[in-house]
Amino acid sequence: MKRLVMCVIGAACVLTVVSSTVLAQIEPLPLWAWARSTPPQPGDKAVPQAPPTRTLRPNEDPKEQTMPRTVPGSSATYSLVDVRDLHNVIDWFSGDHPPMTPIIKNGPAKLGETARGCGSCHLPNGKGRPENAPVADQPVGYFIQQLRDFAAGKRLSSDPRKPNTPTMAMLARAMTEEEMQQAAEYFGAIKWTPWITVVEAEMIPEMHLEDGNMYITHGKEPTEKLAGRIVETPEDAWQANGVRNPRSGWIAYVPVGSVARGKQLVETGEAMVNGGPVRKTTACATCHGADLNGLGDLPAIASRSPSYIMRQLYDFKSGARNGTYAEMMKPVVASLTNDEMRDIVAYLASIKPGATAAQTASVR
Ligand code: HEC
Ligand code: HEC
Repeated sequence: MKRLVMCVIGAACVLTVVSSTVLAQIEPLPLWAWARSTPPQPGDKAVPQAPPTRTLRPNEDPKEQTMPRTVPGSSATYSLVDVRDLHNVIDWFSGDHPPMTPIIKNGPAKLGETARGCGSCHLPNGKGRPENAPVADQPVGYFIQQLRDFAAGKRLSSDPRKPNTPTMAMLARAMTEEEMQQAAEYFGAIKWTPWITVVEAEMIPEMHLEDGNMYITHGKEPTEKLAGRIVETPEDAWQANGVRNPRSGWIAYVPVGSVARGKQLVETGEAMVNGGPVRKTTACATCHGADLNGLGDLPAIASRSPSYIMRQLYDFKSGARNGTYAEMMKPVVASLTNDEMRDIVAYLASIKPGATAAQTASVR
C-alpha cells in the first residue's frame, strides 16, 4: 500500500510518496514509558498476577502491617493489610467519587475472592497510575469498547513483560455486560482534575526503578541526566505506593523544549525540520475535541499520565493495540518518531484540565 504524505517546506508544498516499508519501520521500545531499564528478550511473557490476599508478609514486621494508618485530610483508618487487600478496595476519600459498587470495590463477581476490584489499580477516583491507565471522565461507549477489546485479546502491551495488562484482560473477560456498563458509568461520572506536574529539566534527582516498575525519587539534588526520557515519579512514594493515597500527585520530568514542540504537533500536525514546518500527523483536536477532552465516543487525552499515553501511541504503531477503532489512530502515528510522540505526550500532560488547548501549559 502506498500512502501520500504532504510535506510543507517553507512556502513550497511538496508531495512525497512514502512506501509501506518505510512506514512499517518501528523504533525500539521507549523503555521509560514502561519504566524499564532493559529491553524485552525473546520468549519474555507475563501472566495474570496472583490473586489478592490478606495474609501477612513474612519479611515485614507484623505490627507494622496491622497498625492503623491515616492520610492527611481523611478521617478513615486502614492497616497495610487493608491497603494491600485488592479484593476489598480501601476508600480514603469517599466524597471524591460516586459510592463504590461491587465491581469497583471487589471486581467481577464471576471470579469470587480471586477478583481484584477495578479501584485497586485505577484507584476509587479513576485517576489511575502511570503503570495502569487513567479511566475517569471517559465516554461510556469508549470505555466499554476497550473492555471488549481487552477481552478479545486486541489490547496487548508492546512490552510482553508487562504483568498488569494480562491481568486487565483476564478481568475484562470475566465481566458481565451489566458490570461493564456499571464500571463505565461510575468512572465516566468523575470529573478529571489536575494531579500531574510537568517539569522541563536537563538534570533530575536520582531515580531508582523499584516498587513495581516505577521511577522512585532518591534525594533532592539533580544528579541524573534526563537524557531524552520522560520520567514520571510520585511526589511522595509512601503516600502514593505505601498507603495508596489517591490524592497524592505525580511529577513528570520532560526534556527542555518538548512541551512547545509537542504543542505544535498536537495543534497543527507539523514539526519543525531544518527550520521549516513539515506535516507529520493530523491535528488531534479534529477527533479528540477542541479541548482534547473527548468528543462523542472518542477518548479524552489531555492532562493524563504521559507514560500511559506514550505506551498507547507506541502500541497503536506496533499493532499491540489493535481494537475495533484502532484503525483510526494508525495513520496518526505512522510517521511519528519516538521523540515526536514523547513531545506530544509531554504537551498533553501539561494541559490544565478544563482549559482549552490554546491556553495551556503548566511548566514550572
Ligand atoms: C491489575 C491492575 C488492574 C485492575 C485491577 C484493573 N485494571 Fe484496567 N487497566 C490496567 C492496565 C495495566 C491497563 C492498560 C495499561 C496499558 O496498556 O498500558 C488498563 C486499562 C483499562 C482501560 C482502558 C483505558 C483507556 O483509556 O483506554 C479500561 C476501560 C479499564 N482498564 C477498566 C477496568 C475495569 C472496569 C476494571 C475492573 C473490572 C479494571 N480496569 C481493573 C490494569 C488494571
Ligand atoms: C481520525 C481521528 C483521530 C485523530 C486525528 C486522532 N485520534 Fe487519537 N483516537 C482516535 C480513536 C477513534 C481512538 C480510539 C481508538 C481505540 O478505541 O482503540 C483514539 C485513541 C487515542 C488514544 C488512546 C487513549 C486512551 O485513553 O487509551 C490516544 C493516546 C490518542 N488517540 C492520541 C491522539 C493524538 C496525540 C492525536 C494527534 C497527534 C490523535 N490521537 C489524533 C481517533 C483519532
